[in-house]
Amino acid sequence: MSTLLPIFPPEDLLDQPTLTPEAQQAEEEKNKMRRYFEKPEEQLSPTVAHEPVCLYLETTNRCNLLCTTCPRTYEQLEPEADMPWELFTSLVDQYPNIARVVLHGIGEPMLVKDLAERVAYLKARNIYVLFNTNGTVLNAMNGRALIDAGLDELRVSLDAADPDVYQMVRGKDFFSKIVENVRAFTQLQRELNAPKPMVSLWLTGLRETVDQLPNFVRLAHTIGVREVYLQRLVFFDDAEANENSLARASSALFEHTTEREEALIREAESVAAELGILFSASGAVDPGESIRMKQTDNPWSLCRRPWSLMYITANGRVLPCCIAPFSMKGYGAFTLGDATQDTLREIWNGPEYQRLREGLLTSAPPPACTNCGLRWSL
Ligand SMILES: C[S@@+](CC[C@H](N)C(=O)[O-])C[C@H]1O[C@@H](n2cnc3c(N)ncnc32)[C@H](O)[C@@H]1O
Ligand code: SF4
Ligand code: SF4
Repeated sequence: MSTLLPIFPPEDLLDQPTLTPEAQQAEEEKNKMRRYFEKPEEQLSPTVAHEPVCLYLETTNRCNLLCTTCPRTYEQLEPEADMPWELFTSLVDQYPNIARVVLHGIGEPMLVKDLAERVAYLKARNIYVLFNTNGTVLNAMNGRALIDAGLDELRVSLDAADPDVYQMVRGKDFFSKIVENVRAFTQLQRELNAPKPMVSLWLTGLRETVDQLPNFVRLAHTIGVREVYLQRLVFFDDAEANENSLARASSALFEHTTEREEALIREAESVAAELGILFSASGAVDPGESIRMKQTDNPWSLCRRPWSLMYITANGRVLPCCIAPFSMKGYGAFTLGDATQDTLREIWNGPEYQRLREGLLTSAPPPACTNCGLRWSL
């Protein structure tokens, strides 16, 4: 398979990198938000006195791709829906001082027509706003609307540096379109002198695609993206894995990285350093370190998400995090409440949340947590 890509940067990127004061501020804000969930500031207990610092609001569960790593491709998790505007605003209004809102769940947020209005609603409350997108429908009009709305981060899940590998992982032939969409978006940002949103490219770490990494970094540079992330695969255990899905133990880089795979990561790191690209892996300082992290006896005991964030699906179901649906099938076993029936405050310290937190503090965690790739997402 061909992995060759042009490595010439756009003219106006050639003598870049002193950041403007605005870009510097955006960078600092983002770094401050990134590790919020790793710092518990109080004794952990099943009930929590403070409010969550982050909400994941699944603006839609619709999607136009068929990624072979994603549970949505193999199973309808909930009735197809966009989160109604009234539900969206009522959730935000319950925690208007929340620090951060993530606008994706399992689905493609950019399919939601009024996404920019939702971003603006949050930015009016001084909330840090980001989402992951597959980039397929990013265009001049919705891109401009997101810039105007004040979006802080736009994370593009591209997963490959060439069309064949893209199709294998993401299920459809959209590689070139997305690359052009992102290139045009960063160009628009430069024309508007708009440092935000900070755009990044994401690749889910698979043994089948780790060889894409060096060219993935080069591609980012070519299209004006300054950050690249290698994110850890979350997978079902063998008994639950879907046929033909890449979300399986044998595809995960984690824990059994070969010398060749390590060398590819090192190569990507050195390409990134050469090109002035920030290359990082989920929650770790450097990609190699993240891949090598070994399971401790109770890896879930490191998880702070149930003490810091809430995840609400498009239909109002409350889940512990964005990761559980990738590590355990169905929503039934890890649903914590119904935000169309109860307030977030009631659910946050309700019996299901307490049970989840209790479990994480023991050696017998809830089943979804047993299989989870901790520190998976920034
Ligand atoms: C479920 S998607 C939702 C947002 C959007 N549709 C997208 O693809 O970016 C959120 C993130 O999960 C990633 N992802 C998909 N399957 C995964 C898996 N098994 N393990 C880890 N990340 C995965 C996607 O690449 C994406 O970055
Ligand atoms: S990973 Fe994102 S783009 Fe891919 S199928 Fe899942 S929700 Fe859709
Ligand atoms: S599934 Fe993982 S990230 Fe989610 S609450 Fe459990 S241990 Fe934490």
